[in-house]
Amino acid sequence: MKILVTGGTGYIGSHTCIELINNGYEVIIIDNFYNSNIEVLNRIKKITNKTITFYQTDLLNKESIEKIFYQHNINAVIHFAGYKAVGESVHKPLEYYHNNITGTLNLCDVMRKNDVKNLIFSSSATVYGDAAQIPITEKCPKGTATNPYGWTKWMLEQMLTDLCTADPDWNIILLRYFNPIGAHKSGLIGEDPNGIPNNLLPYIAQVAIGKLKSVGVFGNDYNTPDGTGIRDYIHVLDLAVGHVKAIKKLLDQPGITAYNLGTGRGYSVLQVIAAFENACGHKIPYNIQPRRTGDVAVCYANCDKAKVELNWEAQFGIDEMCADSWNWQVKNPNGYTL
Ligand code: UD1
Repeated sequence: MKILVTGGTGYIGSHTCIELINNGYEVIIIDNFYNSNIEVLNRIKKITNKTITFYQTDLLNKESIEKIFYQHNINAVIHFAGYKAVGESVHKPLEYYHNNITGTLNLCDVMRKNDVKNLIFSSSATVYGDAAQIPITEKCPKGTATNPYGWTKWMLEQMLTDLCTADPDWNIILLRYFNPIGAHKSGLIGEDPNGIPNNLLPYIAQVAIGKLKSVGVFGNDYNTPDGTGIRDYIHVLDLAVGHVKAIKKLLDQPGITAYNLGTGRGYSVLQVIAAFENACGHKIPYNIQPRRTGDVAVCYANCDKAKVELNWEAQFGIDEMCADSWNWQVKNPNGYTL
């Protein structure tokens, strides 16, 4: 079975490609390296012993996507490609809407023309906004996104739902990720953010290795046991397995459906810092700062639907996630830049 993976050299994409290859799928990656590095392809080859078919292109270049579909008999698409920096999206809304939405529209149009109607879409817990209930189930209504990045995920979910209504031949799974962290056990691939990290884990990792001075903890006056925000961190390897299980589910012709991919457990910022200290073996300096606009106090998933329907459940706990993040950080202090 041939799977086209857009954004396949990115953080979640690369781990998913390895899992797909290890499960006997043939993988074709397209990526424009906007937020990734060509070195990822070498690392995937090193881990899997397989050379991957790769195209450096952009979903905005529709003609190039058409050519790829013409050349390969693709059975399904996993669509990761998209801009994802929350803060940047606030400053560059047009770029975000254009890239994420037009890119996906192009992709779906080419898929439709080629009668490839099996799609897994990389979505986010961000679509729930400040969720009406915790833990969050897929029945929770979508909320109000707090930034253009979040709105692109929200709108694309709606667009794909409308597509399935119009043409029931489509099978689409929306995977709503909670907070992906960790790295491949080999330490060869992991998260390599551009510039100063926005997300908690890569920030902690860079403080732990001495590249940054101190973790700014955004608020300690939330209504949580230690006052800091609680999130559902999930190992990227568990996410990768979730995608392979979702590919299998597509064969059951589910129409359109969404799954939460999290662990079902929440950890506070201070608990994560403590777990990382355990992993790296030394103290991590932190300082309390004001709340970050748009943050919610508590966000964690109920993952029963994925357990029952995909036969998927997260295997790794917070200690292993931090140990694997640290292993990647130590082995690649400058990420993929050699
Ligand atoms: C963020 C995005 C979300 C996106 C997800 C992808 C925002 C508001 N939300 O989720 O849309 O889908 O990343 O992984 O950016 N924190 C600190 N100090 C830091 C960084 C974070 O205290 O330097 C705290 C935050 O306040 C939060 C927790 O750590 O309580 C997790 O933050 P982060 O890793 O940025 O993820 P989310 O905000 O949950």
